[in-house]
Amino acid sequence: MCGIVGYIGGKNTKEILLNGLKELEYRGYDSAGIAILSEGSFNSFKAVGKLVNLEEKIKDFTTEKFAVGIGHTRWATHGKPTELNAHPHLGESSYVVHNGIIENYAALKKELVDEGVTFLSQTDTEVIVHLFEKNLKSATDVFAAFRQTITQLEGAYAILLATKSKPDTIFFAKQGSPLLVGINAEDEKYFASSDTPLIGQCESVNYFEDGDFGYVTPSEIVIYGTNGKQKQPHLSKLATNKLSAQKDGYRFFMEKEIYEQSDVITDTLLGRLSEDAVVFEELSDDLFDGVNEIKLCACGTSYHAALSASYLFERYSKVRCCVEIASEFRYREPIMNKDTLFIVISQSGETADTLETLKMAKNAGLKTLAICNVDNSSMVRLADATILTRAGVEKGVASTKAFATQVTIFWMLSLHVAKLRNTLKPQEITKQIELIRQIPASVKVDDAMHERIKRLSKRYLHGHGFFFIGRDIFFPLALEGALKLKEISYLHAEGYPSGEMKHGPIALADPELFTIALLPQNLLYEKSKSNVEELSARDSTICAISPLAFEKADDFIQTKGYDHYMLEFFEMMVVVQLLSLEVSIRLGNDVDMPRNLAKSVTVE
Ligand code: F6R
Repeated sequence: MCGIVGYIGGKNTKEILLNGLKELEYRGYDSAGIAILSEGSFNSFKAVGKLVNLEEKIKDFTTEKFAVGIGHTRWATHGKPTELNAHPHLGESSYVVHNGIIENYAALKKELVDEGVTFLSQTDTEVIVHLFEKNLKSATDVFAAFRQTITQLEGAYAILLATKSKPDTIFFAKQGSPLLVGINAEDEKYFASSDTPLIGQCESVNYFEDGDFGYVTPSEIVIYGTNGKQKQPHLSKLATNKLSAQKDGYRFFMEKEIYEQSDVITDTLLGRLSEDAVVFEELSDDLFDGVNEIKLCACGTSYHAALSASYLFERYSKVRCCVEIASEFRYREPIMNKDTLFIVISQSGETADTLETLKMAKNAGLKTLAICNVDNSSMVRLADATILTRAGVEKGVASTKAFATQVTIFWMLSLHVAKLRNTLKPQEITKQIELIRQIPASVKVDDAMHERIKRLSKRYLHGHGFFFIGRDIFFPLALEGALKLKEISYLHAEGYPSGEMKHGPIALADPELFTIALLPQNLLYEKSKSNVEELSARDSTICAISPLAFEKADDFIQTKGYDHYMLEFFEMMVVVQLLSLEVSIRLGNDVDMPRNLAKSVTVE
């Protein structure tokens, strides 16, 4: 994820950079660093761990004169969280900070090393500054060298570069990672990865678009677009209220977080996919040695992610899997065999019941793995190994993006284990990795779809109950859809396996029973359809979610449809999230803070 900041002006540059980084610290806190160029020379400082370490390190350093400064807070992707790998990275006389991943860095680095350049870090970022300085030797001017550098980079990035060759300027580029610049009446310029650090400092901001690059000085903002032509900054007024600014114009954090899913999943994937393998640098090679069973344990939404995982592990990795609700598992004197890998799943890493099961597994001598969104949380500290989901801070009590990243991790992990155990052909793994790369696109919210759901939602504000139904991995998604709806709308909803309705619940069917049917085209379509027809014959009101038209439905939400059921899973996940959101908004509820709930449940 990483957060970047920049400043051009005459105030206390150090404090401005540190305050900006504080607002962005949620994006990563493996290390932090700043570089300040003033009166022709650079001062640079870095520290491993949270920002307070950097603050402490530079407490005696002051800046009062005009300066150009850049700063970074890191979520490690390439290279361990060490000081050498912390940004800003230095060339001969320039510093760079970067958020994203330079996919062709290995080839670029080899070329530079062959030419005699010495690298200090293991990061992909360091190539940018060396490449720039190499280009500077032959370019007509400094900007030409920067421009040439950008054209040589592949991947995702938000970049800020400061150089002694142009000591009043910050060069920038954006492709796939967020970046904006803010201005005020005092001719100061501020850069950041999101607008919150700029509130109170700037009056207006320009949000860069993908492909934008250029430079900023005290007197101008020069932007070039993807077509290589210069364009005018598009300045918009900056909100003055931090909380509403953090919502970026969305009505609720939950809505923002649904829209963010594409970006955060891109972060989840960063550095973890090669063409033919899933790479989890954080896992030791022997973690799965001798493992004959995987036990997954969690609560609530994380439990639904665990249930989804069990389908993937058994289908692709051919490992026996069982899924446990943490509050049940703790007290039922469970059998724990040493050949079991015990996986806990938690957004917060602090949920009391889940944490307790992790302790039980550790005491029983099982290997343990935490899938978690919060580094340094209790579960992360306790587990033998951790995979961070990189969803960023989730503020809405109803979990959305955390679930999306958990399932993403599990799809990847099931392929990782499949490769280790030879349970899928290499071509199949390569093909699925290609599909995993499409998850960010599959969860992008389609405006027309959102509008349709908004309109439809008015029909679902009453009734005596909702049944979300699905088969196979769409059953945990049905559970999750039902949980979302009941949490924020206070309407009764259940998730059920489609094929199980006729064993009892179908007795409830009447026009006031709403069935939300998940009908993916690539998994058991005909069978699921028959189950829905059974409900339709009993006059239940049906809302079908499917790429294929379904004439027996009262309402129909048509998805785009993909060639693989997992991409349909992600697409339908967004639909059920939006449906709950819109029903809740229509009912006038507080979407982000529903009654009786809390974000982190640290009591049992
Ligand atoms: C529902 C929700 C909860 C949590 C559950 C576990 O939207 O957020 O059901 O999933 O309380 O929390 P974590 O994942 O933090 O362990």
